[in-house]
Amino acid sequence: MSSIPDLSGKIINISLRYHEVPMIKLILGLQFGDEGKGKITDFVSDEKSILVRYNGGTNAGHTVVTDRGKFKFHLLPAGSLRAKTVVLGNGMVIDPFALIEEIKGIIKENLRLDIRISSAASVVTDLHKNIDREQENLRGDMKIGTTSHGIGPTYEEKYSRNGIRISDLSSLETIIRKLRLIREIRQSELRNSPYLEDEKLLELAKNLHSTWDFIGKFVCRTETFLMDSVEKGEKMIFEGGHGSLLDIDFGTYPYVTSSNTISGSMHTGSGISLRKVNTIIGVVKSYTSRVGEGPFPTELHGNEAESLRTAGGEYGTTTGRPRRVGWLDIPLIRYASSLNDIDELAMTKLDVLGSRKTIKICTSYGKKINNPMNALLGAETAEPEYIEMDGWGTLGNDEIEKIVSKGYDSVPEKMKEYIETVERLVGKKISIVSIGQIRGSTILKK
Ligand code: GDP
Ligand code: IMO
Ligand code: MG
Repeated sequence: MSSIPDLSGKIINISLRYHEVPMIKLILGLQFGDEGKGKITDFVSDEKSILVRYNGGTNAGHTVVTDRGKFKFHLLPAGSLRAKTVVLGNGMVIDPFALIEEIKGIIKENLRLDIRISSAASVVTDLHKNIDREQENLRGDMKIGTTSHGIGPTYEEKYSRNGIRISDLSSLETIIRKLRLIREIRQSELRNSPYLEDEKLLELAKNLHSTWDFIGKFVCRTETFLMDSVEKGEKMIFEGGHGSLLDIDFGTYPYVTSSNTISGSMHTGSGISLRKVNTIIGVVKSYTSRVGEGPFPTELHGNEAESLRTAGGEYGTTTGRPRRVGWLDIPLIRYASSLNDIDELAMTKLDVLGSRKTIKICTSYGKKINNPMNALLGAETAEPEYIEMDGWGTLGNDEIEKIVSKGYDSVPEKMKEYIETVERLVGKKISIVSIGQIRGSTILKK
């Protein structure tokens, strides 16, 4: 055990320091989204946690199942059911109506919610949803398959510096001026929009302004609150929306979302440096899924796809679209794991995968490819090479309960083989194993 000086010059023991320093965790997905991040955030959260979302908007959809039922989160972090405080950071694009509905949904359950919303977060309006749909129509066969929730156009507005920020909701005049400016600039994209009529636009502005009555009291400079929380040594969990392969820079562009989704975006989206994070957990589903268009080298088709989709309930939390499904893709996970500089992995849906008689893992794309994105984006061709493993059968509820109570040692041997093969191929430890949808069906593996 070694000793190092801390900032005050005191000599402290490294292992003590690790445990005494409150854990700040960052949880994000390493695939195309829907890895089960929500379940993992909820699992690691408790009543002392401050939970932070820092990117995206209602295009994210996280399902958490507890003994009180099924909860779907789009804007609030998935651990909101039992957090001390939840924070929506400046990097988010927020539909205020959807937010109010989500908050009321939590309050209805008699759950307390202490929430802070960044005054600098961007506001998604109906105008932006109209533009999102129009852009998709215009793309024709180049369409992305967006959620049509106005995410891309709202980020465009942010970066053109004409965007409506959450703090603007307090002023009807500001909303009207900004909406008129946006309409003027984007006339052609709004040609099919009802908001070309001024009366409609004013109605939209008034509705947006009316949300301030509910939202206003929660709005602040969240970066200051978060900096103070870090200073005070609070337990914090940052939850990334979407998946790393949907990152606007490093994902399968143009089939990506409109924000950065890799670990670094936590800093720009919340104001808290990545250097403050103690552990980055990369969540991986034991197979792959993708919603919308874009390359997917290990995709399954026909009956095989249908059977896995049904077994995994792979239908979008946000749009209800059937998710495309396929085998685990190690080149992509290794790439995402490096991009995010993750410390450990959490693997979900092993109960679902186990019901396959034979399971495949893509270990490479055939030839030496220096960057898997080149293979996916056509510069080289991805020709997945697989290894095959045996399934471990369907796990009944009793068996899941038994495994959870006895711990990792009681996991079926073939599942262990799968987990440990993935660890070897990715070069990272899997520390959390999820074997069922409900909150309790999760085990720690050290
Ligand atoms: P996220 O966007 O990454 O939070 O994932 P979603 O919530 O959109 O999709 C994951 C789905 O799988 C949700 O319905 C979860 O409740 C469910 N899920 C998560 N982990 C497991 C698991 O280990 N087993 C099963 N059967 N379902 C799981
Ligand atoms: P979570 O947080 C799955 C996908 C959309 C579409 C593309 C662009 O639940 O993992 P957008 O509306 O963002 O402009 O759509 O990105 N997409 C997701 N797919 N899970 C998500 O989030 C996603 N967020 C965006 O389906 O293909
Ligand atoms: Mg999801």
